[in-house]
Amino acid sequence: MSSLLAPALADGVRLHADGLPGLVETNLEASQAWLAIGGRPALLYAYNNRVPGSALEARPGEILRINFKNSLPEDTNLHFHGLHVPPIGNADNAFLMIPPGESYTYEVSIPVNHPAGTFWIHPHIHGKTARQVSRGLALPLLIRGDLDQIPAIGRAPESVLVLQDFNLDASGYPVEPLGPALIQGREGSLITTNGLVNPSIPITAGGLVRLHLVNASSSRFYLLQMEHHPLIQIASSGGGLASSRSLDQLLLAPGERVQVIITGSLAAGSYRLLALPYAQTGMGMMGSRTVSGAPATVLATLIYEGHETSPVGMPGSLVPVTRLPAPARVRTFVLGQGMGRGMGASMTSFTINGLTFDPTRVDTSVRLGDVEDWEFINASMMDHPMHIHTNPFQIVNGNGDAENAWRDIVTVPASGRVKIRMQFLDYIGKTFYHCHILDHEDLGMMAVLAINS
Ligand code: C2O
Ligand code: CU
Ligand code: CU
Repeated sequence: MSSLLAPALADGVRLHADGLPGLVETNLEASQAWLAIGGRPALLYAYNNRVPGSALEARPGEILRINFKNSLPEDTNLHFHGLHVPPIGNADNAFLMIPPGESYTYEVSIPVNHPAGTFWIHPHIHGKTARQVSRGLALPLLIRGDLDQIPAIGRAPESVLVLQDFNLDASGYPVEPLGPALIQGREGSLITTNGLVNPSIPITAGGLVRLHLVNASSSRFYLLQMEHHPLIQIASSGGGLASSRSLDQLLLAPGERVQVIITGSLAAGSYRLLALPYAQTGMGMMGSRTVSGAPATVLATLIYEGHETSPVGMPGSLVPVTRLPAPARVRTFVLGQGMGRGMGASMTSFTINGLTFDPTRVDTSVRLGDVEDWEFINASMMDHPMHIHTNPFQIVNGNGDAENAWRDIVTVPASGRVKIRMQFLDYIGKTFYHCHILDHEDLGMMAVLAINS
């Protein structure tokens, strides 16, 4: 078993010239290569020849400059998932397409007040996103800040665990799904953590480990559980929580990230980090998503080693999370599944307010500075993890109050509805909102948001 504890950082170079913001600069090449995945050779798409790509780190106030080269046999680009940065120019501009063989310099300024958290980079080419991500293109991006300055958390040994599934034939070639598999969203039977099957996570008795979990799978949900250890959640997809919460299970939707602390409260032994059996749609199961009798998948194993340390306490409160004020406007978005003109699965489309994606249309125009509530109404038989670029949001609960946590993905259950609240701050420009089951995005469930001054 290989051990995972040291976070592998890319060869980013950090420069702090006098009076200038820090610059984190790195070269990044996307290419197709034969690589080992889960212990077997496979023809994958990789960043700098690694699947997943090595994590990058930046701090608020810094500029992240990526000298990107596309050596893939098709167009690609980079999306900085979850970052509150400009969606235009050479920043987080998912309208860009970098043709094969070309290079492009991305430059993303991280604002000084950006929350610390676990974000990630992936391609965003409509019609090809699921295919490119499912072949391996994913790279974690850690923004360091407030959460890292809490002593118990900042001192804890940490790992970034990137969860990916692969659908490969016997020779190691990726299999493109057809028909029903596209409607459900592609899932692969080879499930890996940082490219490995069941790596180990060392922990000392009394000590802590901090895990950044990144769901970089194109469609698979992970219902996480650590045997005999609660998952102490400290961050959601938008950054640190106001206070930690101890969970027996935690559901990670496609594209979603969380940070959890595991406390070494036992003395010895090894314990499995599991993905419990989970039915994505709940179809025919009276809405239940748990599946009894099916086997769990082992994602990694926590192993006690070394000497016992004196127990480290976890702080109760973490970082300030401001609740957004009441909205200036409420909008509704109906999520649908189109039957198409024929009976074939190739005719299936996924829609928002009855429309499939058109990059030349503006679906929603908002004003910079405004607070809005968006209600997603799911009129389909499938769950849709909805994601909005550029500004994080909060879930509005039944009392109309906004919850005390920032996110960028929320799962809208089949036939259910969810209301979220966000404020369009700092940046104007056109950007996207879409389902993060990437086959649904590719089949139309994406729309254009214009933020105007
Ligand atoms: Cu992670 Cu628009 O996506
Ligand atoms: Cu995104
Ligand atoms: Cu969907």
